[in-house]
Amino acid sequence: MKLLLLLLAGVMLAGLTTADSSSSSSYSYYRLPTALRPEKYNLRVLTRLENPEDLRFEGSVKILIKVLENTKNITLHAKNLTIDESHITLKDTSSADKKNCISSTEVNSVHDFYVMHTCEQLLAGEIYELTMPFSADLNRQLEGYYRSSYLDPVANKTRWLSITQFEPASARLAFPCFDEPNFKAPFVVTLGYHKKYTGLSNMPVKEIKSNEQIADYIWCEFEESVPMSTYLIAYSVNDFTHKPSTLPNSTLFRTWARPNAIDQCDYAADFGPKVLQYYEDLFGIKFPMPKIDQIAIPDFSAGAMENWGLVTYREIALLYSSDHSSLADKQRVASIIAHELAHQWFGNLVTMKWWTDLWLNEGFATYVASLGVENINPEWHAMEQESLGNLLTIFRRDALESSHPISRPIEMVAEISESFDQISYQKGSTVLRMMHMFLGDESFRAGLQSYLQKFSYGNAEQDNLWESLTQAAHKYRSLPKSYDIKSIMDSWTLQTGYPIINVTRDYEGGSAKLTQERYLLNTQIGRSGRGGCWWVPLSYTTQGQQDFNNTAPKAWMECGKTGEVLPKTIKDLPGADQWVIFNTQLSTLYKVNYDERNWKLLIETLTNGEFERIHVINRAQLIDDALYLAWTGEQDYEIAMRLVEYLQREREYLPWKSAFENLKRMKNIIRQTPNYEFFKRYIQKLITPIYIHLNGLNDTFSSIEQQEQVLLKTMVGNWACQYQVEDCVRVALDYYRAWRAEPNPDTKNPVPINLRQTVYCTSIRHGSDSDWQFLWTRYKNSNVAAEKRTILTSLGCSREVWVLQRYLELTFDPKEGIRRQDSMWAFQAVAYNEIGFHLARDYFMNNVDFIYKFYHPITKDMSRLLPPISEQTFLLSDFEDFKSFVSNNRGSLKGLEQAIQQTLETMLTNVQWKERNYRQVARSIEDLL
Ligand code: BES
Ligand code: ZN
Repeated sequence: MKLLLLLLAGVMLAGLTTADSSSSSSYSYYRLPTALRPEKYNLRVLTRLENPEDLRFEGSVKILIKVLENTKNITLHAKNLTIDESHITLKDTSSADKKNCISSTEVNSVHDFYVMHTCEQLLAGEIYELTMPFSADLNRQLEGYYRSSYLDPVANKTRWLSITQFEPASARLAFPCFDEPNFKAPFVVTLGYHKKYTGLSNMPVKEIKSNEQIADYIWCEFEESVPMSTYLIAYSVNDFTHKPSTLPNSTLFRTWARPNAIDQCDYAADFGPKVLQYYEDLFGIKFPMPKIDQIAIPDFSAGAMENWGLVTYREIALLYSSDHSSLADKQRVASIIAHELAHQWFGNLVTMKWWTDLWLNEGFATYVASLGVENINPEWHAMEQESLGNLLTIFRRDALESSHPISRPIEMVAEISESFDQISYQKGSTVLRMMHMFLGDESFRAGLQSYLQKFSYGNAEQDNLWESLTQAAHKYRSLPKSYDIKSIMDSWTLQTGYPIINVTRDYEGGSAKLTQERYLLNTQIGRSGRGGCWWVPLSYTTQGQQDFNNTAPKAWMECGKTGEVLPKTIKDLPGADQWVIFNTQLSTLYKVNYDERNWKLLIETLTNGEFERIHVINRAQLIDDALYLAWTGEQDYEIAMRLVEYLQREREYLPWKSAFENLKRMKNIIRQTPNYEFFKRYIQKLITPIYIHLNGLNDTFSSIEQQEQVLLKTMVGNWACQYQVEDCVRVALDYYRAWRAEPNPDTKNPVPINLRQTVYCTSIRHGSDSDWQFLWTRYKNSNVAAEKRTILTSLGCSREVWVLQRYLELTFDPKEGIRRQDSMWAFQAVAYNEIGFHLARDYFMNNVDFIYKFYHPITKDMSRLLPPISEQTFLLSDFEDFKSFVSNNRGSLKGLEQAIQQTLETMLTNVQWKERNYRQVARSIEDLL
């Protein structure tokens, strides 16, 4: 019998991609044909984990396929799989004697299609059963069905496990399938493996049988699932242990980790069920699976993945150790769990039709997660923190011309991957929050509930959401009848960017004239390039009212029929002695520029000690707006810096966060110039009072009641030691010395957890190679992912060129023990260090081919090396150099096109800033000293 093995294109052969001889398939459109629809999958996968030299799987998939239109081919996805063509079978299920078969096959390697031409036509209305055998190695690429490992410290042996990561388009690497989100079908998964392991999949186990052919192997069959998209399928074979928890309504909830980390699962096992319960109540829909597992995977490229009923995480995203994890680490775990569990509804139950609307998954999960965390831990004020964090990110990202709309056309897999970006997540979440605030809670919830009800087990696009929300809004009278959500929201999701609103007050007449245009960082772009019109809900308050609680719009800025800007006049404003502030609690994504008098009134209130009358989020807004407007030249730096001076009395976290984000960008440039001295003294003056107020680096954490003050102390401590404020460096070095003096530093660490980053970094910066080696040894011995990250970030703080160079090199050498998924933290740490910057940039530019291969195919991870380079480049010549580097190395920057665009534009705006503002900033800082 002839066994024809077809190795699909894309497989690496001796380091070379196989030539695409067969890629000229007759079918080249990027979407699957619509003539067929999968009705049900039966997937059997046998996993071999015993021989580390030969980790692989083999399986077969049986798909029931409904024919919607007559056709002579079956086209589906498969990639890097060995398919045994001679054993593919095809049957018409309506009658056993209607014979059919596969006559020939072809491959389209651009879109990963595997095309089977059939002997007879497939007839509309019939259901066929297709069976395909396949096999492949468990790859090392962190996608598809891949291998991961950890060191068992007791036996001192490497233990292997297998795990899947299918989103967005990697189910096709694990089994042939219709790998698009709208082809939903129920799945029956059966896993074969050695009986010493545990098998997990989306559903609970149905039955376990022994394997007749292979000794000590079993077959584990799972229950049939609800209809679901392929990218949400998951399975794993491992030797992990678990912590059980149970929901009140009896959904079984388990948290899994390698045995030696099981004691770090308590927090996730407690928080997970709580937030799942909250969502059931919020959405009015019960979690539909009988069980849910969450599992920490040692090698994992994303942060976490929402597979239905089997949610996978990086260790740092799920595990929590009260001895090693900071408050920020804990909050991050909560927020990530809340995000993935929100997907169980937004994404899994209702899925976007196509990746164009990815934000319906990621924007929702991001926003709903902050509702979840806020509900369970209101004392964290997570909602305010995350909302401001998202806004600060998007103000920057979306002010680049190279940004893109929330909803964007997608044709290639690389484009899907690039869409998992700040626009889908943070901007998506920000516009949902905006709707929540202008519609009010009742309408917003009702709209979401009806959207989820209506599209359960199906797919939706954004217009479906707009419709549900419009209906709810009109029913509850939270939107004028003449308005609909689609007109408003299309201006936010189909357009790139966000507006700046110019407010010009008429102090005599008690009115203000408002106009809008797109806000851009690149100041070379003229008015005509700044078009655009956004529907803006206008909330505002005055010095007399000071009503910051009301975020409902008092008026709207509308757009004309052809999208033209319609100026707006607001009446009934106070006289010349009172300020107005627009955008209460930053409910909407826009910047505001006032006339000079209004700015002066605001600065007056901020600096005369009455600043607390302005809502804390609006204080953060004023800082961010003033510094942005100064950056782009709409405002004098003198005014902006005077406003910032009020911070000497500020004691809240959010305004400081806003200030530090902005000052960081100035620092990145100024610290490479002769005037850094003044900037340093200015920062010292600004932060000394808050540093003293928070009791410096002293361990006061047990007496801090407001959780945000812990975060504030962490952040201020970090800046204080960088700028050698008061006793910061001395105290940090004392802590480190005490740690080094411990007989067993791996089990006893006297450094307060929330200050460890600062203490380690300061000690490495001011210390010797033996301090560095001490920390590196702790890294290697640590069993806690959060601690490992803290250390990785600190090891980049050295000022010794050779130490930094050595660190860069070991970062990219897998034998040294830094996992690939963590390497960017080490690189970033070196690159954000003023000494390391040039080393890291040169390393990147000189080794780009190697780095590309190192990260391949996860180009998203590689793109994270770029921001430190762009943010610190401000010389025209360096910008030009980088530009030609890019054009000479297109091949090794493939899939990073979007990131490269942003990098270049950021560099360009820095060049502009240096040329236009540098002198003025230096002067105004000097004046304030
Ligand atoms: N669905 C994503 C995971 C994902 C990301 C798959 C990129 C494919 C490509 C998951 O829900 C997610 O958003 N994870 C985040 C963490 C989250 C808490 C923001 C991530 O991986 O960064
Ligand atoms: Zn997500």
